[in-house]
This record gives sequence, C-alpha cells and structure tokens, in this order.
Amino acid sequence: MAENCLEGWCSRAKAVALTNAIIEEQPQLCVEIGIFGGRSIVPCAAALRQNGSGVIYGIETWSPAIATEHFTSEENDSWWQQVDFPRIKQDFFAFIALHGFTEQIRVIEKTSRDAASLFDAIDFLHIDGAHSVFNAAEDVVLYASKLKIGGIVVLDDIDWPTTGPAHEILKSIAEPLTTINDDEGKPACAFMRKVRN
Ligand SMILES: C[S@@+](CC[C@H](N)C(=O)[O-])C[C@H]1O[C@@H](n2cnc3c(N)ncnc32)[C@H](O)[C@@H]1O
Repeated sequence: MAENCLEGWCSRAKAVALTNAIIEEQPQLCVEIGIFGGRSIVPCAAALRQNGSGVIYGIETWSPAIATEHFTSEENDSWWQQVDFPRIKQDFFAFIALHGFTEQIRVIEKTSRDAASLFDAIDFLHIDGAHSVFNAAEDVVLYASKLKIGGIVVLDDIDWPTTGPAHEILKSIAEPLTTINDDEGKPACAFMRKVRN
C-alpha cells in the first residue's frame, strides 16, 4: 500500500527488513532521520501498530536549502533544489491521517542537528537524511551515541562514497546484522546492532 502511494526510495525488501526488525525487537522509541514522502517511516509505523506499542519520531525539514547544506555532488544537489517539498509534505500528512498512523508517528520539523538533544535512549534508529560526508557522519555521531547498547541502527545508501565515513564510524560501535541489496544486487542498506560506545 505505502509502496504505491508514498514517494521515496524504500524498496519492498528494505520495508520488509524494517518491519521484521521492529516486530522482532519490539522497540519503544524509534527515530528516523529523513522522512521525505514517508516511504520508510510508514512501514515502521505499521510494525509498531502491529506490536501494540512504541512510537517513531521522524525528523525532517522538507527544505531544499537544508537538504543541500553540505556538498554531496553537483547532480545530487541540483536534484534536491527542484523537489516540490510542500506537496511531498502535504501528501505525507494526508496519508498518515487517512490511514491512522498519527498515534505511532511523531514528526519533528527540525534539522537533525537541532533535534538531537531531544533524545536520550533510542531503541531503533534509521539514518536516511542528507547523504553528504558531513551530514551522514554528523547524524551517526549525534544519534548513534543516543542509541542504547543492543539497539538497532539502519544506515541507508552505504554504497555511496559519501556515506563511507559514516559507515566506518558505525562499524566501530556496532556489529552487522544484515544488508539489503539494491535492485542491481549491490549492498545498499546496513542493519547493525550497537555493541559498545
Ligand atoms: C533520502 S531522503 C529520505 C528517504 C526516505 N527515508 C525514504 O525511504 O523514502 C532524505 C531526506 O532527509 C531530509 N534531510 C536532509 N537533511 C536533513 C537535515 N539536516 N535534517 C532533517 N532532515 C534532513 C531531506 O529533506 C530528505 O527528505
């Protein structure tokens, strides 16, 4: 359902992995950096609804200026400059209202940097915000430090050169669980468990 109605990049395989992890781990406090059209947060919310408890905070600015605050690539940054964020945001809110996900999803319309101080002990973390070297590494440093030992962290687009440093930082504190491949069979999304600070 979400796959057909919501804009974004979350593949069917990734949505299944997210929902399975949430059903297995029964997290209470989940955080997603980067909602966009809701394609990944909605499957997470559906899993929380099935669990009968837990919330997911979605951190998103829906702003081209913030999405390109730090350089990723010319092609990437010019693509984000022309996104119709007001429409994406409106469609997302309409969808979660229509399908009754407002109990599970709490939206924080701030930069991930500004929202970080709101969290303390996160159980489940999905990092899918800006993919610049600076932002991806900053999101990992700010948020993985708030993840409980034993908590799950999901880092998207590990095949991008710019997310390499973020992935390396995560590997120093978390152990790999599974990796979801993209449609071409390349590793694209890492699921890890935090084992140390
Ligand atoms: C790759 S998209 C998220 C895709 C979504 N998770 C999905 O699966 O379809 C990244 C999103 O992060 C948001 N974003 C970028 N930088 C951000 C920041 N510093 N704080 C909050 N959101 C940010 C962008 O507006 C964009 O919508």
